[in-house]
Amino acid sequence: MDDKKDKGLEKGLTSYGDRGFSLFLRKAFIKGAGYTDDALARPVVGIANTGSSYNPCHGNMPQLIEAVKRGVMLAGGLPMDFPTISIHESFAHPTSMYLRNLMSIDTEEMIRAQPMDAVVLIGGCDKTVPAQLMGAASANVPCVQLVTGSMLTGSHDFERVGACTDCRRYWGRYRAEEIDADEIARVNDQLVASVGTCSVMGTASTMACIAEALGIALPGSASAPAVTADRIRIAERSGATAVAIAKSRLTPDRILTAHAFENALRVLLAIGGSTNGVIHTTAIAGRLGIALDLARLDAMGRETPVLLDLKPSGKHYMEDLHRAGGLPTLLRELKPLLHLDALTVTGRTLGEEIDATRPFAQDVVRTFSNPIYPQGGIAVLRGNLAPGGALIKQSAADAKLMKHEGRAVVFENAEDMAKRIDADDLDVKADDILVLKSIGPKGAPGMPEAGYLPIPKKLARAGVKDMVRISDGRMSGTAAGTIVLHVTPEAAVGGPLAWVQTGDRIRLDVPAREISLLVSDAEMERRRKEHPVREPRAHRGYLKLFLDTVTQADKGVDFDFLRK
Ligand code: FES
Repeated sequence: MDDKKDKGLEKGLTSYGDRGFSLFLRKAFIKGAGYTDDALARPVVGIANTGSSYNPCHGNMPQLIEAVKRGVMLAGGLPMDFPTISIHESFAHPTSMYLRNLMSIDTEEMIRAQPMDAVVLIGGCDKTVPAQLMGAASANVPCVQLVTGSMLTGSHDFERVGACTDCRRYWGRYRAEEIDADEIARVNDQLVASVGTCSVMGTASTMACIAEALGIALPGSASAPAVTADRIRIAERSGATAVAIAKSRLTPDRILTAHAFENALRVLLAIGGSTNGVIHTTAIAGRLGIALDLARLDAMGRETPVLLDLKPSGKHYMEDLHRAGGLPTLLRELKPLLHLDALTVTGRTLGEEIDATRPFAQDVVRTFSNPIYPQGGIAVLRGNLAPGGALIKQSAADAKLMKHEGRAVVFENAEDMAKRIDADDLDVKADDILVLKSIGPKGAPGMPEAGYLPIPKKLARAGVKDMVRISDGRMSGTAAGTIVLHVTPEAAVGGPLAWVQTGDRIRLDVPAREISLLVSDAEMERRRKEHPVREPRAHRGYLKLFLDTVTQADKGVDFDFLRK
């Protein structure tokens, strides 16, 4: 390909049938914004702007864009920010996951359509970083991921609180009538003390760490809180790095290799990361034709302890990890298990970046000899209830329930659960197993984070804090409990979960990695014939695209036609 035509403003010209005219017109329009020929001759760095009034997790976007632009210009490039879809967890109906793939398409196509030699992707809230990395992996233009950074913690009656582990804890206490309406209103003011992403190891923090472990975000960039000077400096350095990789043409496919994904999974396991991290990492890898194997993840989990003492598995918050040296402190400890030859956006390997860091005394990242949890945070379960696999965040579960057999109490869908879960006449006991169907990729649709079934009110009032809960949906990484998620295949496409009935016996055995429905094959066959499943369909729009093409959890819930 002609080198010049593939660079700067000459890249991807609009089709008028006359190259010269296309470039002439493009320059004429951009000069309307006051640019000089000197500026327009520089390497162009796109900056994906996901600022939105609906997205407080991205509330520092203006400052980050300004800093990225400064970094780009100091390095001799021309920064061009452009908008894409932004998604916030609490402002997306029916669920943010329904829109992740749409945002990935938007990101990919805007990177392709507009002239840019490199791009800085600014994301943060749970689905935005996965969507951006999926899009960038497909577009394969040199890219740096910049996260917005975590929010600060607040204080409620001198107790440190942060979203959203403490949101769930206080709401659980309110449901159990341990605290009153006045107190729950007061704590509501303190849970999110600043702009930025959730302050515990939820999906946003998990994906920030994964982006750094993948080498597609700057070393040390995952942990700086949103409102700190460090976060702004990271943004400036991300801009400068983008100019460097625009010149060296360091494309994502050279960074996002099979080794890099293994490093990311190691980190996911060692940080007690969100189960959502498995789905998103699978989807990003799928864009590059790299298959992530759940059996391999589980095998890695058996030799990778949780070392990070962060909520919900431990006690600290993201700002504490930053004070403890950030992710490099953990990477240094994990070094014997990492592929050190993996390349990063700096042009240096992960091993070289780890060696450049300086250890000091801290108590947020533990050593191998003194872990938070002896195995990886996530275990992969199999059995006749989940032939395609299911996950449990064992590091945030109740040790007493890790081997448990109980009677199923079944809810057919989210509406059914909402209607009955708090009824005084609900037939449920503390050692029962709550089962929720039809919240998978197609069932809800969009696989909402409804897998964290609330403890039925009458049991909560009696002091029950945890029960085994099973669904084909997801759970926020900020939540804790003995909760089996991502049961695959989902009920809505005819997975065995569809035919579980109240009264059936279910066995969970996490050490043996088993999730079994204790019902005979003949009985299951009878139920299948008697109640055939009708897959959800739609006639138009994005919902039709979604239902026609979305894959199951083991393929990352990506659209089938977007995978490589
Ligand atoms: Fe945005 Fe938690 S709601 S990161």
